[in-house]
Amino acid sequence: MTENNQKILIKDLKNHIDQEISLSGWLYNKRGNGKLYFLQFRDGSGSMQAIVDASKLTQDEIDLCEKLTLESSIIITGIVAKHPKFEDIFELQVTKIKLIQLADHDYPISKKEHGIDFLLDHRHLWLRSPRQWAIQRIRDTIIRSSMQFFYQNNFIKFDSPILTPNACEGTTELFEIEYFDMGKAYLSQSGQLYLEAAVMSLGRAYDFGPVFRAEKSKTRRHLTEFWMLDAEAAFVDYIENMDIQENLIKFILNSVLNENKQELKILERNIEALEKATQPFIRKTHQEVVKELQEMGSDIKDMEDLGADDETMLMNKYQQPMFVTKYPTAIKAFYMKRDPKNPDFVLCSDLLAPEGYGEIIGGSQREDDYNQLLQRIKEHNLPLDQFQWYLDLRKYGSVPHSGFGYGLERLVTWICGLDHVRESIPFPRTPYRLTP
Ligand code: 4AD
Ligand code: MG
Repeated sequence: MTENNQKILIKDLKNHIDQEISLSGWLYNKRGNGKLYFLQFRDGSGSMQAIVDASKLTQDEIDLCEKLTLESSIIITGIVAKHPKFEDIFELQVTKIKLIQLADHDYPISKKEHGIDFLLDHRHLWLRSPRQWAIQRIRDTIIRSSMQFFYQNNFIKFDSPILTPNACEGTTELFEIEYFDMGKAYLSQSGQLYLEAAVMSLGRAYDFGPVFRAEKSKTRRHLTEFWMLDAEAAFVDYIENMDIQENLIKFILNSVLNENKQELKILERNIEALEKATQPFIRKTHQEVVKELQEMGSDIKDMEDLGADDETMLMNKYQQPMFVTKYPTAIKAFYMKRDPKNPDFVLCSDLLAPEGYGEIIGGSQREDDYNQLLQRIKEHNLPLDQFQWYLDLRKYGSVPHSGFGYGLERLVTWICGLDHVRESIPFPRTPYRLTP
């Protein structure tokens, strides 16, 4: 049954044609009568059909086939055969079947349409359905290929803390907790500030972990807990920062296109659209984009941030991701470096995904001058004592440096072609949902 004590998985069946093997997993559908049963079976790595010819099994095993309920866990043994019609599809001619647990007959998720609230209430079971299986596997490819990209490009994985004494991205969205007798602590909104310390040691670094935003916004794009990957590099300006992001996103897209064909098919994802997105990204300034939006009928003002609707309208027009650069200083974070040619704008870029998806990455060159940064911290009314360590980085060997952070769920949502970010994360957290 096993080679090198490794369990055989459905995904590897092509290597076991005509052999008798055992598979452990769950029944997700059943057809048939006393003579012949077709068991739809999944083992985590994939799904297949097992064919039971009752004349080849014991009476106990036939009784078992008869009573098997959906989602029962079983071990089936049989001979691997090629599907008569379809290439790359295999069947099992069952020789033995063993029950692990007979599932209660009332498995709540059926083939019929369920409302989204019902599905989210049953997220712990919903995760088993083919769509959710496919999404989590693509999420895995995105994480794994990101790490591969950073390894190949000399970035070191660094673990920023989650409990922090200060805000990174604006004080209105902080989750507060009581921290013993030291007063308030906050859940991290991004590991960026700590990564800036990292790159003065390591040159290039990235972190990846959960971050928290206490925004009470109920949109298709917002979660209160999500996974961010921040990357930072010394001696990199905001232009090279965009080059790194473009290469990263293309690397991720190519990995998904190569490794997740089956999953993209389950999701009915438009492959051509994803392939087009690997062509050179578009780069425009905030000013150019605002003009374009005004011409399209948006009421956005010259120095305003793009709203979610603006991003959607703009990105429905384009097939490649677009960097929107040089936003007004007044609407961006305190740490962004101002454009020496016009300090009303900062050396930043947001990366917007095509097909109407909008912002997936935020990044910028960082203020590397001690006095300028001190002034910005004061202007933003941030607690100076908690930023002293961050200012130190500008005191001892300061260098131009830049970085960015992607929201993993935004990336998964776009690449999988989902309507809503809540399906992209195993257990979504929003202002209105904390369970299961
Ligand atoms: O644009 P943001 O706020 O940038 C930062 O936090 C920087 N410190 C990153 C850096 O430079 N290292 O967030 C980065 C990304 C966004 O582009 C978006 O993809 C995602 O995080 N994001 C969210 N995703 C889901 N729900 C939310 N509430 C999100 N807020 C931001
Ligand atoms: Mg942003």
